[in-house]
Amino acid sequence: MLDSFRLVHYLRFFAGALVVIWIFVQFGGTGDRHDQYADLFRQFRDQRKVFISDFLNHDVSGPYVGDGLSDLCATKKWTPGLILTCDAVPGGMADVKNGILTCIRIAIEMGAEVILPDIMIRSTMDLAVIAPHDSGPRRGQPLSHFFDREYLFNTLGEFCPELKIHNSLNDFFDDPNVLEPVKMDIYKVPGVTIASNMGKSAGKLVQKGELLGEQIHAMLDKKSPPKNRKYPFRVDLRPTPSYMMPAFADAPPLRRHFGRMLRVRQDLRALAAAVLFNLQKAFDLQIDPRKGIDIDAFVGIELRTQNDPLRFPDYTIQASDALSYVIANNLSQVYLTEGATSDNITSFTERCRDFNVAVVTKEDLVEGADASKLASLSYDERFLVDYEVAIRAGLFTGHAQSSFAWSVGLRREFAFGEAGSSNSSHLNGTLRWHNQYSTLYGKNFVGDDLRRAIWP
Ligand SMILES: *[C@@H]1O[C@H](CO)[C@@H](O)[C@H](O)[C@H]1NC(C)=O
Ligand SMILES: *[C@@H]1O[C@H](CO)[C@@H](O)[C@H](O)[C@H]1NC(C)=O
Ligand SMILES: *[C@@H]1O[C@H](CO)[C@@H](O)[C@H](O)[C@H]1NC(C)=O
Ligand SMILES: *[C@@H]1O[C@H](CO)[C@@H](O)[C@H](O)[C@H]1NC(C)=O
Repeated sequence: MLDSFRLVHYLRFFAGALVVIWIFVQFGGTGDRHDQYADLFRQFRDQRKVFISDFLNHDVSGPYVGDGLSDLCATKKWTPGLILTCDAVPGGMADVKNGILTCIRIAIEMGAEVILPDIMIRSTMDLAVIAPHDSGPRRGQPLSHFFDREYLFNTLGEFCPELKIHNSLNDFFDDPNVLEPVKMDIYKVPGVTIASNMGKSAGKLVQKGELLGEQIHAMLDKKSPPKNRKYPFRVDLRPTPSYMMPAFADAPPLRRHFGRMLRVRQDLRALAAAVLFNLQKAFDLQIDPRKGIDIDAFVGIELRTQNDPLRFPDYTIQASDALSYVIANNLSQVYLTEGATSDNITSFTERCRDFNVAVVTKEDLVEGADASKLASLSYDERFLVDYEVAIRAGLFTGHAQSSFAWSVGLRREFAFGEAGSSNSSHLNGTLRWHNQYSTLYGKNFVGDDLRRAIWP
């Protein structure tokens, strides 16, 4: 009865438009009436608001599944008062994300308490300089500058309650023990061995992540015999490597979800939702953020021609790979992420137009307050917006040297796709990795360290 009363209430305002639906609700179907009302009322709320709220409430891979994490934490031996700190992490959003995750993972392997690392902010003068003024302990912005801190703490609190997280070293200001930590370079811990790389790929992954806890404890016991050790006792990881743990060796429930504890900051997800809402209007698509992706929707493309610490292939190579991918898949709508110079964005847009392919960037898709917000973001914060849009694209392509591209590709694989092949030699030279939803270009085994170490 209450529902009917509410419906009458709404009818006062939307009388004409509602008559048809009113009749449907009253006489149509035998389904769950509550659901029918929910659908009905949806249509009368502001479409854009609904879209954004659906986007924020529905992660592409569904709710976080914490079984793998719970199992991992439950099997460790935890030492109260043993504290791990980790040096601030430099790089793009994917590098920073994996670095913070690496710190958390090492703390779990050690059974230690943790102070989470900061984010080192890239030079604004030269995007290729990711660690400006780099001497001594690295400082930066707190992780909430990129990621949703509350979500991280809730996820860890629920699925790894054994892991104690301290806010900062200030919690220990009166503890001389903590001010003088044992320094740890993970590659110098006795017994740690490095896995061999595929082909000529780069990278330095430890071979047996599951032994790290033991190896670190053995080193600490030598430096500070347990009998005489006073707690709190701090170990300082410096530097914090981003790609060092063999994530690919984790059991699937852990591998697929571990990285999701670091979710993009809420205001940037909301901005991405507004971008995606306008994108579907611009391209006349129907995107429902509550559902999976539609492969016939737009193609997300990352071209990397901005100054960068890594050398990417020239614009012409990246652009022609990307355009052939779009054409081979018979699509005509492209969302171009951050990463290309403005000259190259213009050239790419024009080249695509010759093939009847439309290109938009997030700048084309924001207005009003969203536009000012976007304009205020740094290069790396902008990638956080693109990450949220790109994981929802029908298809995605980028270069295998890009950690962003792997992060997007692997997240999409775990969310919807089949496993991409780790050995691309059958793909004939220029394709590094692909599945039905994502394709990364690159020669030989470029980026293989990223594939093996990323928790997307
Ligand atoms: C590409 O699209 C055109 C027109 O929509 C269609 O006729 C053609 O069969 C499609 N080709 C492939 C390979 O899907
Ligand atoms: C691409 O960008 C680079 C760097 O700004 C520039 O040197 C090059 O001329 C551009 N090429 C095209 C075709 O836009
Ligand atoms: C990759 O696969 C090819 C055959 O498809 C094989 O010859 C080659 O040894 C493999 N490479 C690695 C590193 O597994
Ligand atoms: C691989 O490339 C070579 C030369 O570019 C070509 O002759 C061959 O047919 C290609 N093989 C496949 C499986 O595409």
